[in-house]
Amino acid sequence: MTDTTNSNAQTQTTKKRILTGITTTGIPHLGNYVGAIRPAIQSVQNLDNHTETDAFFFLADYHGIIKCHDPKQIHESTKAIASTWLACGLNPEKVTFYRQSDVPEITELAWILNCSCAKGLMNRSHAYKASVDANLEKDSEGDPDRGITMGLFGYPVLMASDILMFNATHVPVGRDQIQHIEMARDIAGTFNHRYKDLFTLPEAVVDENVPLLTGLDGRKMSKSYGNTIPLFGNVNPQVDSQKQLRKAVMQIVTNSQAPEEPKDPNESTIFEIYKAFATPDEIAEFRGQFETGIGWGDAKQQLFEKIDAELAPFRERYNELMANPKELEEILQHGADKARRHSRKQLDKARRAIGIKPLAKLKK
Ligand code: TRP
Repeated sequence: MTDTTNSNAQTQTTKKRILTGITTTGIPHLGNYVGAIRPAIQSVQNLDNHTETDAFFFLADYHGIIKCHDPKQIHESTKAIASTWLACGLNPEKVTFYRQSDVPEITELAWILNCSCAKGLMNRSHAYKASVDANLEKDSEGDPDRGITMGLFGYPVLMASDILMFNATHVPVGRDQIQHIEMARDIAGTFNHRYKDLFTLPEAVVDENVPLLTGLDGRKMSKSYGNTIPLFGNVNPQVDSQKQLRKAVMQIVTNSQAPEEPKDPNESTIFEIYKAFATPDEIAEFRGQFETGIGWGDAKQQLFEKIDAELAPFRERYNELMANPKELEEILQHGADKARRHSRKQLDKARRAIGIKPLAKLKK
């Protein structure tokens, strides 16, 4: 792990607080699992009340509606992501696991932070600039902002609120999110300087060792390319997700080399995904099989078995949660209660700092 920001950041607590959000716009796939879900859950596995670290994980559903305007998709994704994290071993007693929209203080703080955020800072946001560039390339009738909402433009402010609300010190993210953490620091700095030292400056934590998976067609595995391998299959629990996994693995694109021909493991998506699930010994053994010649069908079958061995124990719990939204809802409400114990206090401090407070104490 590397901290991407300088480490002499002034922090108000000595306690380490990990926080990260998951945008609710898709159904988790294998790439999400090895790149984010598995490492995040592993990193908090040993936390207990005696450690000086705590963790906040949340479903960023208000971030979800920035790009996805399909209510059904937002709703189903929230359910599938919550079920996935819990089924894969996230312990809601050890971490605070909640839905962003259940903590209304976050959106309220976001407004306050908007007023400490320079517009020019948002102009420089990669996500916004990418949309402007896309407009300039296609015919947008000369309007660089065509189709861009204030939600997309101000996205980093909501993200800053997510983080600063809980005074998170460490924020595990993908590379594409580093700029957003820097913006959160910037916004916190402006507020702290102008009003009161209230917010901890967060650091982005990027894990260089997590594998980035290639998809079925040889491009990066991504929902937007439609080339993913589903983690627990379709949202519909009736569909056998083990069969779906096998079917997807069998669709991985390969070249036309004959079974007995030696193959370069480093050029193979099958080998790459296998590496993310196997022990060093198993990887060495599989490499040997490539070098002496293995049929693609055989290689895919071995890959399927390897992935399945890791996921099978989680599958039952996933299906159970998907079929029991009540249980899920209870877990999320419990998480929201825990989160709000912090957020109510923090919002109160922020409001007081900016001069929004009762004019007098009223007798009850
Ligand atoms: N924007 C993040 C992503 O797309 C998700 C997110 C929302 C987040 N709020 C956050 C991540 C706060 C870390 C901290 O990946």
